[in-house]
Amino acid sequence: MPQARRSFLSTSPAATEIFAAALARHVKPGSVYALRGGVGAGKTVFARAFARSLGIRRQLHSPTFVLVSQYDIRGRRLKRLYHVDLYRLRRLGLEDRLAIQEVMPDRKGVVLVEWPERVWRWLPSSAVVIDFSVRGLTTRQIVVRRKRR
Ligand SMILES: Nc1ncnc2c1ncn2[C@@H]1O[C@H](COP(=O)(O)OP(=O)(O)O)[C@@H](O)[C@H]1O
Ligand SMILES: [Mg+2]
Repeated sequence: MPQARRSFLSTSPAATEIFAAALARHVKPGSVYALRGGVGAGKTVFARAFARSLGIRRQLHSPTFVLVSQYDIRGRRLKRLYHVDLYRLRRLGLEDRLAIQEVMPDRKGVVLVEWPERVWRWLPSSAVVIDFSVRGLTTRQIVVRRKRR
């Protein structure tokens, strides 16, 4: 698990994928990861590699109309991954809110949230926040810390 704050420079999509795989290896059921950063920052690249590392064969997509996608995992303790992408969400309706709160937290699941600012209040304080920033054509700074508040 991350210490107070860890920062590193990824110089290729493959490096971001290796980073995601390393985090996935230590994932605990019930974890929530908030993936922050603008369009093209690398959130989905990270999420895909994370899912693959958990043995998910189905390609992770950011669906147009669904806020929460569920991917089943054949693990002993970890049973599913939820990918929440709130990019298209302008106003949060009650149904959206219920859909998100239903999966967070899930004792046997792990949640990845893109555009977490939109539901910040509902993220548990134990959430791991990962900030992606574009630093060049193929360079991304990735900062990991705890949410806490
Ligand atoms: N170091 C890097 N890490 C991640 N993605 C990178 C990197 N360098 C270039 N890219 C590219 O940036 C884009 C990131 O897209 P995506 O992950 O969909 O962004 P987001 O989900 O944050 O909007 C991809 O086209 C990817 O190939
Ligand atoms: Mg994305």
